[in-house]
Amino acid sequence: MRQEDAERLTRVGPGTPAGELFRRYWQPAALSSELPEKDGAPVRVRLLGEDLIAFRDTEGKIGLVDAYCPHRRAPLFFGRNEECGIRCVYHGWKFNADGTCTDLPSEPAESPMKNNIRIKSYPTFEQGGIVWTYMGPKDKQPAPPDYEWSRAPETHRAVSKAYQACNYLQGLEGGLDTAHVSFLHNNRIGDKKNLFARDGAPKIEVFDTDYGYYYVSTRKLSEGRDFIRVYQYTLPFQQMRPNMVQTGLESNRVAPRSDGHLWVPIDDEQTNVYNWTCGFDEDCPLDPQQIEETEAFYGRGKDHYIPGTFKLKANLSNDYFIDRQEQKNTSFTGIQGVNTQDVALQEGMGTVTDRTQEHLGTSDRAIAVMRRMLLEATRAVEAGETPRGAEAKSYRDIRPYDGLIPTGTDWREAFVEGLAPRW
Ligand code: FES
Ligand SMILES: [Fe+2]
Repeated sequence: MRQEDAERLTRVGPGTPAGELFRRYWQPAALSSELPEKDGAPVRVRLLGEDLIAFRDTEGKIGLVDAYCPHRRAPLFFGRNEECGIRCVYHGWKFNADGTCTDLPSEPAESPMKNNIRIKSYPTFEQGGIVWTYMGPKDKQPAPPDYEWSRAPETHRAVSKAYQACNYLQGLEGGLDTAHVSFLHNNRIGDKKNLFARDGAPKIEVFDTDYGYYYVSTRKLSEGRDFIRVYQYTLPFQQMRPNMVQTGLESNRVAPRSDGHLWVPIDDEQTNVYNWTCGFDEDCPLDPQQIEETEAFYGRGKDHYIPGTFKLKANLSNDYFIDRQEQKNTSFTGIQGVNTQDVALQEGMGTVTDRTQEHLGTSDRAIAVMRRMLLEATRAVEAGETPRGAEAKSYRDIRPYDGLIPTGTDWREAFVEGLAPRW
């Protein structure tokens, strides 16, 4: 990759090509559960290189405003969240969720100043346990997000969040890379039940769509059956992956469901990963205990986080607690937790890896296409166009899928029922 293109994709601050592109989509700013109560404590949000504060006001509405007061830049994190607004504790200026100044007690009552002061604020929308925001130009604001998983009832959906100390693109590339599952996540070397490990060089076909693409990976299993996985990529940084068939992995569930991630840039060198799970069987709600077990299997269980943060205890400073003996005897990596394995590789590349030094092969096709699409989308925005995947109607009914089919069968025919959205 040319350095110029790599920079175009990895810099996310205001005014950068990718930064301006990302501001054309709704994206997660926080989990709803971070703001559990009206007039509760505000939370710090850093998003696309901007420092913000989120608060749930007296009516339950979420404000997302500049982290610093427009008076003399005091931190609003220490502010009072009261009577439909956040009040700066330095001199008492108060702003509502829309950014309007509603009180200016340090100025004379007749002062017109109140009418001219605003705080930067972004619109918010809650769905699927996520507080979404739109940070782009007002006149280009698309309809709010509308994914099958975010529409799903609370009983059939779970979300979580984890911090990653690297650029979002390294995470997204890992998420679209089905080939690594056969190696990095091979936790029981020699286990014949593991479908992923039985073919480490899947064939990958990528199909362009209005929202991004889907790709189909085919792993040949010797007994006349193929293991097919259909992944979805929606611009700018979401992966949806299937989790429906028995793969011999511990994380596997019998009830049909899918999982996914959004790698949301905090800034150029840090990322918040929002993880979701969606069950499709109406009669089979997700079991909270099972969800917690799965999260623990991924390395995101309650005990895996540094208390009070979304940061994992296993990190680069302790080499993710790699166990070299275990690596010799049991698992490919010696690192516990599927997600921790991913993070170890992605953070270990350096915060922004040098993509001029890579050598991409055929198994990297999905990654190459994603990069090309993102580059094209930055140019579309520069040309005044609407980027691919900004409109909810382009992605509202998509779903990932996987299954075992007889070799030579057309997967579309085999999967026709499983591809229809449930929610
Ligand atoms: S700095 Fe906030 S009111 Fe003065
Ligand atoms: Fe992975």
